[in-house]
Amino acid sequence: TITPVLLCGGSGTRLWPLSRKSYPKQFVPLVGDHTLFQTTASRLAGSEYAAPLVLTNSDFRFIVTEQLAEMGIDPGAVLIEPEGRNTAPAVLAAALWLEKTDPDALMLVSPSDHVIPDGPAFQAAVAQGATAARDGKIITFGITPTHPETGYGYLELTQAVDAADGPVIPLKQFVEKPDAEAAATLVASGCHLWNAGIFLFSVKTILAAFKAHAAQLIAPVSQAVEAAKPDLGFLRLAPEPWAKADDISIDYAVMEHADNLAVVPFGAGWSDLGGWDAVWRETVQDERGVAVSGAATAIDCDNTLLRSEDPRLEVVGIGLQNILAVAMPDAVLIADASRAQDVKLAVSELRAKS
Ligand code: GDD
Ligand code: MG
Repeated sequence: TITPVLLCGGSGTRLWPLSRKSYPKQFVPLVGDHTLFQTTASRLAGSEYAAPLVLTNSDFRFIVTEQLAEMGIDPGAVLIEPEGRNTAPAVLAAALWLEKTDPDALMLVSPSDHVIPDGPAFQAAVAQGATAARDGKIITFGITPTHPETGYGYLELTQAVDAADGPVIPLKQFVEKPDAEAAATLVASGCHLWNAGIFLFSVKTILAAFKAHAAQLIAPVSQAVEAAKPDLGFLRLAPEPWAKADDISIDYAVMEHADNLAVVPFGAGWSDLGGWDAVWRETVQDERGVAVSGAATAIDCDNTLLRSEDPRLEVVGIGLQNILAVAMPDAVLIADASRAQDVKLAVSELRAKS
C-alpha cells in the first residue's frame, strides 16, 4: 500500500479574508462543500492506500482530526511540528517516522490545498508511478503549463511530451521557481511541465536522497522524531532539535539535486488555489466570466468574483469588470483581478497595524 503524507502547515495569506491565521485556506470550503484538506484526504483513501500521515502544527491539530472524522477517515498518525520549517524537514520527519513503523512503505506526499477534480484519474496516475517508485525513482507529477508562472517548479523532460497522461518518463532537470524571463523560456521550449508539488517515493529512496543532498537536516530532524512526545493521540516533534533544522522546501533541498527523478504527466485537471484569481477560474459560472457564491448577486458584470461568506450579508455588484470581492462578517476584500497576488500585502499591513 501507499501511505498518503498530507502537508497542511501553510498559512495561505493570499486568500485573505477567508483564509485566516487560525483557519487557513486548506481548512475552509473554497470550492464545493468540503474543504481542500478533506477532498485531498478522500482522494487518497481506498484499498490502495494506508491511513494518512498528517503533518501540521499545534494550532490545527483538532481541525485536522475533526475534518478527517467528518469524512470517515482515521489518521494513521498526526505529527505536530513545533514551528513551520518548510516542507523538507516535514517530509524528512514523515520518512523517519515511517522507517520505524512501515519501512517498506511508498509515500505519496501531497499538499492539502490543491484542486484535482478527477480523483480516480489522479489515483490512476499514482498507480502508474508506483512500480518505478518501488524501483528507486522519485516520481513527480507534471502539469501542462498554461502561462510562465513563477510560483511553480518546472520539470525539464528529455523531449516534448505529446500525451497529457502517463506513462512514466525520465526527467532531465528540476527547476524550482524560475524568474519571469527564465519561466517564459521554459514554457516556450515545450519540453517542460509544471511540478504539481506532489511526490511519490519509497521511504528508503527519499532517506537516501536526503543523505546525499540535504545531510545537514538528518541530525536535527532525527533527534526531533526520536524525542517526539505522544499527546492525546498526536505526536509532538521535539522543539529544540527541530528549531535547528534549516527552513527549506523539499524542492530546493532535494528535487533540484537528485538524479533519480521521473515524471508522470497528469492532464486531468489540477489547480493550486494560490490566490482569488485561481478560485475565480475554478468557479466561473457564466459566459461573462462571473462567479458568485453565497449571498452575492452580480448585475451586468464581467470577469468578476463575488463571494459572501455570511448568509446575512448581501453583496451586490453592478457593472463590475475584473474585480475580486470577498465579504466576511468582519472583513471585506475588494481587489482588481490583476492584483490577486498582492492580497498577502493586506495581511502584512493589517498585522503591522494591530
Ligand atoms: N506541515 C507543513 N509544514 N506543511 C507545510 C509547511 C510546513 O512547514 N510549509 C508548507 N507546507 C505545506 C503547504 O500547506 C502546502 O500544502 C504544501 O506544503 C506546499 O507548500 P507551498 O508553500 O504551498 O509550496 P509552493 O506552492 O510555494 O511550491 C510547491 O508547490 C508548487 C505547486 O503548487 C513546489 O513544490 C513547487 O515546485 C510546485 O510547483
Ligand atoms: Mg502552494
